[in-house]
Amino acid sequence: MKTGLLCLCILITICTSASHQRRKFPEDFLFGVSTAAYQIEGAWNEDGKGENIWDYGIHNGVGNIVDMSNGDVAADSYHNYARDIEMMRELGIDVYRFSLSWSRLLPSGFADNINEAGIAYYNRLIDELLKYNITPMVTLYHWDLPQKLQELGGFANPLLGNWFEDYARVVFRSFGDRVKLWITFNEPREICLDGYGSDNKAPFLNAAGIADYICAKHLVIAHAKAYRLYVNEFKSTQKGKCGITFGVSSILPLTDSEEDRLAVELRRQGDLGIYTNPIFSKEGGFPKEFAERVAMKSSEQGYQRSRLPEFSDKEKEFVRGTSDFFGVNHYGGSFLSATDGIDDRVPSLNNDAPVAYHTPDDWPKSVSSWLMQMPNSLNITLARLHADYNNIEFYVTENGWSTYKGLNDDDRVRYFRAAWESALDAIEHGVNLKGYMAWSLMDNFEWAQGYSERFGLYEVDFEDPARTRTPRKSAFIYKNLLKTRYVDH
Ligand code: NOJ
Repeated sequence: MKTGLLCLCILITICTSASHQRRKFPEDFLFGVSTAAYQIEGAWNEDGKGENIWDYGIHNGVGNIVDMSNGDVAADSYHNYARDIEMMRELGIDVYRFSLSWSRLLPSGFADNINEAGIAYYNRLIDELLKYNITPMVTLYHWDLPQKLQELGGFANPLLGNWFEDYARVVFRSFGDRVKLWITFNEPREICLDGYGSDNKAPFLNAAGIADYICAKHLVIAHAKAYRLYVNEFKSTQKGKCGITFGVSSILPLTDSEEDRLAVELRRQGDLGIYTNPIFSKEGGFPKEFAERVAMKSSEQGYQRSRLPEFSDKEKEFVRGTSDFFGVNHYGGSFLSATDGIDDRVPSLNNDAPVAYHTPDDWPKSVSSWLMQMPNSLNITLARLHADYNNIEFYVTENGWSTYKGLNDDDRVRYFRAAWESALDAIEHGVNLKGYMAWSLMDNFEWAQGYSERFGLYEVDFEDPARTRTPRKSAFIYKNLLKTRYVDH
C-alpha cells in the first residue's frame, strides 16, 4: 500500500513536471504581427499624401541608405492590404499592429487640411480586419513626421505637442469607434537619439547630447497630450486603451564591478529612463542621477544651463501616469563595461561614441549588426521592467530576427522558439504580459538598411511589380503556435 502511494506520488510528480515543460499560453493572450506605414505602404505620393521626413531625406540625399533604396513602393501595402489580411488569416493572428501615416491623413501635418482619401484607406483596412475578427492595434507615430513640421523644427519645437494632439483628435474621431488599442509613439529613443542625436534615421540631424534631449522632453509631452485628449474626450464612449512603445534591449554589466553596474544603470536611464521615468515613475521627470550627471558635465563644458531640459512641476504632473500599458519592442541584448563610454552622448565627453557592446562569440548572430541572440533575454527585459514599474500591463509589440533574402529561415525559427519560451517564463514569474507581436508580417523597408535585411514571416519579392508574398518556414511554425498555444520543438 505504502509502495503504491509512493508510486502514485512519483507518477504525479513526473506528470506535473512533464506538463510543466510543455507550457501553454493563456487562452486570452493576444498573438499578432506588427508593421509600420513607411516600411510597407509605398504609394508615397498617391491620393493626396504629403511628403514626410523619410521621403524628403532620401529623395534629397540627406539620408544614407545602404542599398540606395527607399520606401516609395516598399511592399506596396497601400494596394495590397487585402492580401496582407489574407496572410494574417493564414497565420490565425488575433491582433494586427500597424501605424498610420500622419502625412497621408494630414498632408501638411496640420489638422486644417484632412486628406479624405487617407481616411478612406485606413477605414478600408480597419473594416477588413474587423470582418475577420482581427483586432487593430494602431500606432500614431512610427517615425514619419510630415516634412513641413520638420521644417518648423519637428520634435525640437515645443509646439510639437499641439500638432500631435490635433492629429490625434482627427485619428480618434475617425477610427476610435472601431480601434480600441492605441500606441502614441513607437520607440522614442530611436526617434530622438537616432534621428536628432545621430544621422542614422530621419531627419538625420546628428546633434548628440543636445537635440536628442530637447526631442525627448517634447516627445513625452506630446504623448501625454494625446493620452489626456483620449481620456477627456473619447475614452468614455470609445472604451479603448492608450499606451506607448519603447525599444528595450537587455544591457547587462560586463563584470560585477561597481563601475560596470553604474555604467549600465546610467546607460539605461539615458536610453530608456528619460522617456519612461516621466510617464511611469512615481516622482515623474527625468531620472535623477542621469539629470545630475548631464547638468554637471554641461557646467564643466561652459554651458549656462544643463543640456538636458527640465520639466516644471506642472509638466511633471501633466505627464505622470499617462499610459494604460507599456509596449516593449524587444530583440536582443549585450554586455556593457564602464570603459565603453557611458554617461551621455556628447562625443567629446565619451571618447568617440558609439559605445562598444560586448557579446560572447557563441551567441547566434542575425544579419543586423546590432542583433544577437542573448539567452532568455525577453524574460530578463520584462522581469526588470516589471520590477521597475510594477503592475503595469505589458505587450510585446515587436520581436523578431533578420536574415538575408530567401525562404529558408531556420535560424529565425530557432530565435522565435527561444523567445516564446522566454515569454512563458515571464508570465510564470508574474509579469502581466497581455500579448505578443512578431516583427514582422512580411519583409519591408528596414530604414538605413533598406531591403538588405529581412524580418518577414513572409518573404516579399521586391523585384516583382506585384510584390508577391511567400510564407517562410517561420510562418508555419508561428501558425502552429497560434493554433495550439504550445511551443513545438
Ligand atoms: C524596431 C522598429 O520599430 C522597426 O521599425 C524596425 O524595423 C525593427 N525595430 C527592426 O529593426
